Amino acid sequence: MEKFFRLNDLYLKKIKHKLRFWMISVKNLASVSGQEWSTTEKYPGVRWKFLIDSDFDGSSGLSLGFAEIAPGGDLTLHYHSPAEIYVVTGGKGMLNKSGELEEVKKGDVVYIAANAKHALKNSGTETLEFYWIFPTDRFSEVEYFN
Ligand code: NI
Repeated sequence: MEKFFRLNDLYLKKIKHKLRFWMISVKNLASVSGQEWSTTEKYPGVRWKFLIDSDFDGSSGLSLGFAEIAPGGDLTLHYHSPAEIYVVTGGKGMLNKSGELEEVKKGDVVYIAANAKHALKNSGTETLEFYWIFPTDRFSEVEYFN
């Protein structure tokens, strides 16, 4: 009997692993309302949540999170080896493109090449909101350098 259960568990594990390849999931901020906002002293006024991320849902290949920068808040100059995309969904900010400044606002999308130095500061009076996308399974594997 015990053996039967063990085999059954193994079978279920295999099926679950297979299903991950066909996984399609819908998320929004409400569906991750139980998740605490993440913050760091390094980036004052910045907070974020993970939406599509292997650490949370077993997704793979791409990861996405949502970030807010309060007025005056600053996601200071940094770089990382994966390329990155921002999708700005609210407010406006000053994007630092390796030293060159450009204002971004709701509706803008930003492509950041691998290892390109970038920063984003809220230059407006309302919260700057954006999604980031990395070509990685999870945010936690992206190493940030200054
Ligand atoms: Ni970045």
